[in-house]
Amino acid sequence: MTTTPISADRTTAVAARATELSKIYGQGETQVVALDRVSVGFRQAELTAIMGPSGSGKSTLMHCVAGLDTFSSGSVRIGDTELGSLKDKQLTKLRRDKIGFIFQAFNLLPTLTALENITLPMDIAGRKPDKQWLDTVIQMVGLSGRLGHRPSQLSGGQQQRVAVARALAARPEIIFGDEPTGNLDSRSGAEVLGFLRNSVRELGQTVVMVTHDPVAAAYADRVVFLADGRIVDELYGPTADSVLDRMKRFDTKGRTS
Ligand SMILES: Nc1ncnc2c1ncn2[C@@H]1O[C@H](COP(=O)(O)OP(=O)(O)OP(=O)(O)O)[C@@H](O)[C@H]1O
Ligand SMILES: [Mg+2]
Repeated sequence: MTTTPISADRTTAVAARATELSKIYGQGETQVVALDRVSVGFRQAELTAIMGPSGSGKSTLMHCVAGLDTFSSGSVRIGDTELGSLKDKQLTKLRRDKIGFIFQAFNLLPTLTALENITLPMDIAGRKPDKQWLDTVIQMVGLSGRLGHRPSQLSGGQQQRVAVARALAARPEIIFGDEPTGNLDSRSGAEVLGFLRNSVRELGQTVVMVTHDPVAAAYADRVVFLADGRIVDELYGPTADSVLDRMKRFDTKGRTS
């Protein structure tokens, strides 16, 4: 297995980039350096997995890059836009227009049907869904027969697929997932990961996901490893075995789940 240095210059455009990004919580003795000058780019039409021990800064990195959290120093770019240069309103608009989210707790509205949940972000933004695209996405995640159901009438895996469809439907420049398959059984998880990978391969979607699972990480084009708020390793073309192998190096630092 070969690795490419983090600074490797690839020709593909970068969908999002963090440069010397630091995030420090608290002050004095209670200070926690959650991110310590992290520089990382996420290329277009790539699926990147972020791994690392609990507390290593994975969620913090994702939230900062996605414009959901402020950072202490450094910079973040989504496409050509520097997040630091934006006012709150502009940031909200950028998040709405350019970023899709899939969280572990699916964040579906219980009173809305599956279809209404999928189109909600576009409804809020006042954008008309592209019907053909919407059909493609719904077909891909296999929800055609469940569109009128409310979340409580759906299985966990189906709810997660609604969340995936919601993220894909708006055609965001980049989708972030924080353990998007964390609470699914392995079969549903594999399905959701399959959809995400298809969306990258076939539709050119850019996806960044946090995961603890080497099997999930093997769906990615690249795995970035964090430890103590720093990027410590990177792996291209991962397999579950090669990921596991890398993870063993962190055993002295902490657990990965
Ligand atoms: N609001 C906060 N206030 C203070 N410290 C925080 C806060 N949020 C996170 N931290 C700390 O920042 C560090 C990174 O947290 P983060 O949630 O990014 O870890 P993680 O890698 O996502 O872990 P996990 O795998 O458990 O989800 C941890 O040490 C955590 O305790
Ligand atoms: Mg986390």
